[in-house]
Amino acid sequence: MTGDGTRVAHAGLPDPVPGQPFLPGPVFAAPYHLDPVAGPQPGTPGYGRPDNPTRVALEAAIGELEGGECVAFASGMAAIAAVFQVCGRNGSVVVPSDGYFAGRALAEQMLPSVRYAPTAGPAPDFAGVSLVLLESPANPGLDMCDLPALSAAAHAAGALVAVDNTTATPLGQRPLDLGADVSVASGTKALAGHSDVLIGYVATRDAGLAEKFRSWRALGGAIPGPFEAWLVHRSMGTLDLRLARQSTNAAAVAEVLAAHPAVVSVRWPGRPADPAYDLARKQLRRVPGVVTFTLADKAAVDRFLTASTLIAAATSFGGLHTTADRREQWGDDVSPGLVRLSCGIEDEADLVADLQAALKAV
Ligand SMILES: Cc1ncc(COP(=O)(O)O)c(C=O)c1O
Repeated sequence: MTGDGTRVAHAGLPDPVPGQPFLPGPVFAAPYHLDPVAGPQPGTPGYGRPDNPTRVALEAAIGELEGGECVAFASGMAAIAAVFQVCGRNGSVVVPSDGYFAGRALAEQMLPSVRYAPTAGPAPDFAGVSLVLLESPANPGLDMCDLPALSAAAHAAGALVAVDNTTATPLGQRPLDLGADVSVASGTKALAGHSDVLIGYVATRDAGLAEKFRSWRALGGAIPGPFEAWLVHRSMGTLDLRLARQSTNAAAVAEVLAAHPAVVSVRWPGRPADPAYDLARKQLRRVPGVVTFTLADKAAVDRFLTASTLIAAATSFGGLHTTADRREQWGDDVSPGLVRLSCGIEDEADLVADLQAALKAV
């Protein structure tokens, strides 16, 4: 297999044609010209909701990285909604109690029966379950779970397994290789990486499931626009470089945080002292740039964010700028002092110096 940098730089690109760009620009079309007599033809785009070549190129790129067939959606939530719709309506659905909060809220609205389980376990009994949604590492707590073991247990009970791969990205983790039926993600985060676009996707090796996802998207209409699809494809080419810098920055940041007396706790699965370290070494091809830490209270976080000149207060994560988010303000059931810090691609020395100054102000 070629290296990650080579793969992302070339993923989904057409064969070279003299005079043509490396990545063709977005195709903007609601209807396409039809043959006036023959009408719609298989393999020829007819209407923009089911058919768009820019989106198809992005799906080829993500599919190569995830190792399955990709169906892109308008956002990560639209992709999760598709997973619930296609895989979760014939029995209970197990969702992480500590994963992205909107996933739980959506499950409650969409599904007949929802059960909760913490990412770090213990795993529940999967009898009567149609779908197990796992999120590893989980946002924002960064706990992890054993994907092959849980997939095997869920399959033995007749359930499908979907893994939210947002935080890891397909370069950091390949859920389909680890036993999952579906990898689902928000590409809004590190995959696109520039804090300027929302997108989501599912990937699967099951052709029947892929067809159901495409059919649901064509009917439900949650398609990414062509400009968004193009922007994500263009941005993905640097994913390997961005993740590498974010991960080394996170390693340095986690050490500074762990050593500081004002910091109550730190989570980063790449630290040997972290409870998820052993799983991270087994399952992650690289550790993400997100570090979660806890200060005493909201006032301490206010002082931290006000004193920093480099760390922007912003939600979301995975972008090229370092950002920090006090998660309780969005309704996450966490301590008021919990901060999800997303390391950007700034120079490590600058970031560490800024972090140390901000911690001093705490
Ligand atoms: C783990 C996870 N999954 C899904 C989503 C939803 O993604 P989007 O905002 O693109 O709809 C998010 C957003 O923060 C997330 O963190």
